[in-house]
Amino acid sequence: MELTNRVVIVTGAAGMIGRGICKVLHQRGMKIVVADLDLAACARLAEELGAGQGNALAVDVSVTDRVSLLRMVDVVMAHFGQIDALVNNAGIIELGALTELSEEKWDRVIDVNLKGSFLCTQAVAPVMMKQARGRIVNFASVAAKRPAPLQSAYAASKHGVIGLTQVWCQELAPYNITVNTVCPGFIDSPMWSQQLGPAYAPMLGVPPEEVMEALAKTQMPLGRPQQPEDIGEAVAYLCAADNVTGQSLVIDGGFSRY
Ligand SMILES: NC(=O)c1ccc[n+]([C@@H]2O[C@H](COP(=O)([O-])OP(=O)(O)OC[C@H]3O[C@@H](n4cnc5c(N)ncnc54)[C@H](O)[C@@H]3O)[C@@H](O)[C@H]2O)c1
Repeated sequence: MELTNRVVIVTGAAGMIGRGICKVLHQRGMKIVVADLDLAACARLAEELGAGQGNALAVDVSVTDRVSLLRMVDVVMAHFGQIDALVNNAGIIELGALTELSEEKWDRVIDVNLKGSFLCTQAVAPVMMKQARGRIVNFASVAAKRPAPLQSAYAASKHGVIGLTQVWCQELAPYNITVNTVCPGFIDSPMWSQQLGPAYAPMLGVPPEEVMEALAKTQMPLGRPQQPEDIGEAVAYLCAADNVTGQSLVIDGGFSRY
């Protein structure tokens, strides 16, 4: 699919990876729907991407709320008249050992990462089916390829996302809609500074802020963490590719190796 002037919804757009995705897709000429919980943050990014020139639109949405998702679809259709791609990037992490992880944390992670991807795609797919054209890019993680301890909820949610991709690629293929997954590796975002760094520091014997670099150096053949734009490039490829569906594209410097 030629990307120029195509309309893409990016959920979790105001986050670290979301911004990288928006930047790369904007450079490729796509019109960006900046969708996240906080309207002010979305509006700031949309402004940077040229909302005033009709290149971007800010929408506040929660991927766990069906009504807000249907409203988002209405707003985007009223503004742009088409939706060519959906990037289900919104996600959260909660860590905890099997015997300690609370049911509330389990539910929260499954709700946003797995059910959120389902509800968002369910809201957007009918538009793409009507157009007989679409790209859906789901977000899993290296945790769906090489999970670590403490990741029961997160790894389960991300394995589930790959399952959804494999089901939907079959259901939506007759409508010329591809469905793929991106599995990011290690990107310096609040997930690392607030959760992964502090949780794994004692196991590795390094300060929390050095956990990501230490793991990258010892576990990644390429030896360096990924940048948000690396993930954006993978999304751009999957939006452009006409004959790729049901796949998981892992961007992790070789960490998982399969
Ligand atoms: N950072 C990493 O190393 C890494 C690695 C593998 C996978 N991922 C995945 O990449 C995606 C983006 O992560 P990130 O690192 O940019 O995190 P981030 O915390 O920087 O961004 C996540 C964004 O999602 C938004 N969000 C959360 N709940 C939402 C909801 N209910 N509705 C709409 N938006 C919501 C947040 O407001 C935030 O802006 C996630 O799916 C994450 O699981 C990240």
